[in-house]
Amino acid sequence: MSGRVLIDVRDLWKSFGDNHVLRGISLQLVEGETLVVLGSSGCGKSVLLKHIIGLLVPDRGEVLFHGRNIFDMKAKELSKARQHFGMVFQGAALFDSMTVGENIGLPAVEHKGMRGQELETLVEEKLRLVGLEGLSRLHPSEISGGMKKRVALARAIALNPDIILYDEPTTGLDPIMAEQINELIRDTQNKLSATSIVVTHDLHSACFIGDRVALIDNGKIAFIGSTDELTETEDEAVQNFIARRGADHGSREDDEIDLY
Ligand SMILES: Nc1ncnc2c1ncn2[C@@H]1O[C@H](COP(=O)(O)OP(=O)(O)OP(=O)(O)O)[C@@H](O)[C@H]1O
Ligand SMILES: [Mg+2]
Repeated sequence: MSGRVLIDVRDLWKSFGDNHVLRGISLQLVEGETLVVLGSSGCGKSVLLKHIIGLLVPDRGEVLFHGRNIFDMKAKELSKARQHFGMVFQGAALFDSMTVGENIGLPAVEHKGMRGQELETLVEEKLRLVGLEGLSRLHPSEISGGMKKRVALARAIALNPDIILYDEPTTGLDPIMAEQINELIRDTQNKLSATSIVVTHDLHSACFIGDRVALIDNGKIAFIGSTDELTETEDEAVQNFIARRGADHGSREDDEIDLY
């Protein structure tokens, strides 16, 4: 992949007590690409994303954003840097007490002080992008799991981020809904020309969405390459991951079941 490096993750280490999760992760995200991060449950995919947006601090290592280590940034600079990022959290992470519209508008209210008609217009525009126009007054409890993921995506793109991070956007969805979300992700990429990292368990999604794919194994990047290289490689970690797919898929506690 050639092009400008937007995010440069350098030798990231993170342990929680005796649990050594990240053991020297390095990768670069190039402007315009969609990088898919694969790995078995508990290998540290969400932890990696949380470091990239500065929600977790590493024991060692750096995340350079436009050449600046985000862990050296003061609160104000970090908050400004974060406005370039949109994150779709695993399990959507919507605020249940707020309406769909309030959830989507939250970043614009917090970072831009937006309100009134301008805010309403923004919310409706983003809802339209994810195919949920007119639903801004519903609460998260009134919509399906797939719709929640769409709302989470609408919130992530509220401020037209340069970089979108998706944490398992299709996990727990039925195949048809998963396909729709995958298409929505591709559409969003095209419409916003954003750069993305998509964390997933799902090889099919990875190949459909990704330009490049990285596999985390044992706290390190075991493989990184194009989707073609992934299917052709004889790398042992990749082969093991592919062989294990059937075994740990669908057995996770935090999977939501979409009854849509
Ligand atoms: N804040 C935390 N405190 C302590 N341990 C944590 C914390 N966050 C994550 N962990 C641990 O770090 C490991 C990696 O967690 P992480 O959520 O990144 O896994 P994952 O690869 O995203 O898995 P999944 O595919 O199930 O979402 C797990 O063992 C988890 O228990
Ligand atoms: Mg996770």
